[in-house]
Amino acid sequence: MKNSILILISVAFLKLKNVGAETTADRVKSAGYLSESYNVTTRDGFRLTLFRIKKPSEPSHTQRPVALLMHGLLSSSDLWVLKGVPDLLAYALVENGYDVWLANTRGNPYGGYHPKLSLNSREYWRFSWHEIAVVDLPNIIDYVLEATQQGTLHYVGHSQGTTVILVLLSTYPEYSEKLRSVHLLAPVSFMENSRSTMIRALSLPFGSYSFITPWFGDTSLLENVFIRNILGFESCRRTEGALFICPYLFFVGFGGRSDYTLENVYPDFYSTHPARCSMNQAIHFVQLYKSGHFRQFDFGTKGNEQRYNQTTPPDYQLVNINPRFPLHLYHSKDDTFSAKEDVEHLVTLLGNKSVRHFIDLNNFAHMDFVLGYNVKDVVNGDVLSEMKRVDGLLAG
Ligand SMILES: *[C@@H]1O[C@H](CO)[C@@H](O)[C@H](O)[C@H]1NC(C)=O
Ligand SMILES: *[C@@H]1O[C@H](CO)[C@@H](O)[C@H](O)[C@H]1NC(C)=O
Ligand SMILES: *[C@@H]1O[C@H](CO)[C@@H](O)[C@H](O)[C@H]1NC(C)=O
Repeated sequence: MKNSILILISVAFLKLKNVGAETTADRVKSAGYLSESYNVTTRDGFRLTLFRIKKPSEPSHTQRPVALLMHGLLSSSDLWVLKGVPDLLAYALVENGYDVWLANTRGNPYGGYHPKLSLNSREYWRFSWHEIAVVDLPNIIDYVLEATQQGTLHYVGHSQGTTVILVLLSTYPEYSEKLRSVHLLAPVSFMENSRSTMIRALSLPFGSYSFITPWFGDTSLLENVFIRNILGFESCRRTEGALFICPYLFFVGFGGRSDYTLENVYPDFYSTHPARCSMNQAIHFVQLYKSGHFRQFDFGTKGNEQRYNQTTPPDYQLVNINPRFPLHLYHSKDDTFSAKEDVEHLVTLLGNKSVRHFIDLNNFAHMDFVLGYNVKDVVNGDVLSEMKRVDGLLAG
């Protein structure tokens, strides 16, 4: 008995050491592609690693249209290359002749290094997705365009990856000039109608600013092993997603009951997710749910006056978004983060600057837009044909 417990513990420990050791580059290589990594330093000092995927047969200097893929909350570039997903968009793009780059955001496992700030300091975590949108994202876009000697790129974002491009284009509309087609998978902007139990629960302590906001906010979310253990993420990581709670955690934590993400994705999902991020990113989303606005971080009346010269945070000016080609939004009805009503509201405001793709399937939820076994038919095909259409127009 004692021995078997010891063996169980050491097996668990071995697994713990093994999982998570693999990087995005390793996943790309084991899928039969070449991977290159590049580091971009943001203007405020964060070092973000970008991964570029190539076909082994591709001559290295051919100029191809660029596609930049941006992950969501609690995620990283690993999202786009998880094992067990039959039709990943990243590889479909490579096969269709695109120069594919996977981005990362500050604070995540590929964006952790900062020369002056330690990961253990509160100062390090004092950012939300607003900073990702107005600093990381433009720095990444400029870096990729420079490295590829291209003037424009295609953009695909999932979840928070859609939030940040909307914020960037509202704040610095000139970035539209650097974009070809833009694809928003499971768009998140207005959150009033979110049905996520997690968002609702968190809105009690965090919906409005109080002294606990910075106290919890300036920390890393779900990185603490003790909290991960209590919530079960650590057990799902160790057992490679085999426990009965793992699907449930996936549904509650990542945007709704998914009938299209296969169970054989769970081992690699839990070895990489939830990935490190700032608690302020989650709080910022919860504030949107509470306020019904798509706006900047709420620092409380006094903090807002200091920062924004007004008592409430300024709304993002979506009216500033002026894309060369309409933005493509892909959404569904059972995604608890990206509610149908909220996406419809966004589309109303964007008007003819957007095209909506409603995926009319039950239990096609937040993560299914990338990890679903049917994405080839319901998402990727439309993304590819729009990219090719725009490439054709620009080739004139
Ligand atoms: C990029 O930065 C990471 C982490 O700071 C480092 O481990 C890696 O060697 C760097 N890669 C390149 C290509 O410079
Ligand atoms: C702050 O707002 C007030 C009133 O709207 C305005 O008069 C003032 O110039 C603003 N100050 C700054 C620093 O923008
Ligand atoms: C949207 O409509 C306006 C006029 O109603 C037109 O000027 C503009 O070019 C259209 N934009 C797109 C992206 O089709």
